[in-house]
Amino acid sequence: MKVAVIGGGSTYTPELVNGFLDRVREFPLKELWLMDIDEQRLNTVGGFAQRMVKAKGSPFSVVLSTNQREAIADSDYVTTQLRVGQMPARREDEYLGQKHGLIGQETTGVGGMAKALRTIPVILQIASDVEELAQPGALLVNFTNPAGLVTQALHQHAPEVTSVGVCNAPITAKMGILEHVEQESGESIDPSRAELDTLGLNHLSWHRGFSIDGEDIWPRVLESYIAEAKNDPESDWDANTLEALRMLPNYYLEYYYYTDRKLADQDKWPPSRAEEVMEVEKNLLRMYADPGLQAPPEDLMKRGGAYYSTVATQLLNAHYNDLGETHVVNVANNGAVSDWPADWVLELPAEVNKSGIHPLPAKPLPQECFGLIAQVKSYELLTVEAAVNGNRQAAFQALLAHPLGPAADKVQELLEDMLEIHRQYLPNFWGA
Ligand code: G6P
Repeated sequence: MKVAVIGGGSTYTPELVNGFLDRVREFPLKELWLMDIDEQRLNTVGGFAQRMVKAKGSPFSVVLSTNQREAIADSDYVTTQLRVGQMPARREDEYLGQKHGLIGQETTGVGGMAKALRTIPVILQIASDVEELAQPGALLVNFTNPAGLVTQALHQHAPEVTSVGVCNAPITAKMGILEHVEQESGESIDPSRAELDTLGLNHLSWHRGFSIDGEDIWPRVLESYIAEAKNDPESDWDANTLEALRMLPNYYLEYYYYTDRKLADQDKWPPSRAEEVMEVEKNLLRMYADPGLQAPPEDLMKRGGAYYSTVATQLLNAHYNDLGETHVVNVANNGAVSDWPADWVLELPAEVNKSGIHPLPAKPLPQECFGLIAQVKSYELLTVEAAVNGNRQAAFQALLAHPLGPAADKVQELLEDMLEIHRQYLPNFWGA
């Protein structure tokens, strides 16, 4: 079996390699191809990955490549974890927002839109290579942010390739809730016994159910979060909000619910998150380059991708072994939420088996959430159109539709700034 990782020079890769090493009996990987256009980084991260695998008796080989087509050829699984323009482009996205008095964030708001415009054409080229070169029925697993929006583009413009978008936020929420429950009950609970019910878009979802061994314990979980919100002034959410929603919002909803607080936070930059991550990555890459290092260092956890390898390898394993497990992923609605459009890519629980990723029937979100979802989905659909066709009119409309976008009479100025800053990564707008 061959797995290709596009963006294999990511500092997350060693965690992924560990995930494959842990599952080698059930998931018989033979070749792990790490592909990256940044050769130096690929050699550092890939060299470390090779040492990790060797230290475990070389159950599979790790092949390094700068050639996307060669990496994808004959793959059974292709994962994408790339960043067009690398961290400096993310920094530009963050400061673009700040400069215009808006949220400056990697996935949420105008920064997320800029990232989507750079990323979507690259991902669609990968999908086209998967269709042409990979094994028939190969699964494309997208981790690249903004993960929901990118998966929306794949669903619309590469329907012949089976694709799914994955984020570690749902599993991080599940593990956080589980820890909460364990603390209260004093009992240790294996995560496989717990299930999180959640619905929305990536980074715009609400957690609304939690069960252990099939028993719904949501009212208890929610009450304990409400009590915590009442007692802890540092709590992320205020108790009234939780009481009104009867759900726990994904933490990216802070940008919508507490925009002023988030804007005040970014007044303190530098460092923005990109700048922090650049520092963390510099240190990580220095450690990875150490020929004596054979296992991921503790500092990898500072990078922020908790459970990333668990999500990735669990999903591939469930697909390969036809397990029928439930995982929270980003896929086209396709009737799961019957009142909502079938072609909206949603983040929700889905059954994963050999035949694909099947979203489970879900009741729609209540009125107080639906408006926001619909507005952000409109922005996403317009952004996909803008990215694919270099359509400035659609890009303007996307900014107009976004709840965190600029005032209407400032849209043009922001758009010109966004397109100019990332000119070299936007051939659909500027020509090759
Ligand atoms: C969260 C988000 C991901 C993001 C990750 C790392 O888990 O859901 O989308 O990639 O954090 O974020 P960072 O700011 O550390 O790059």
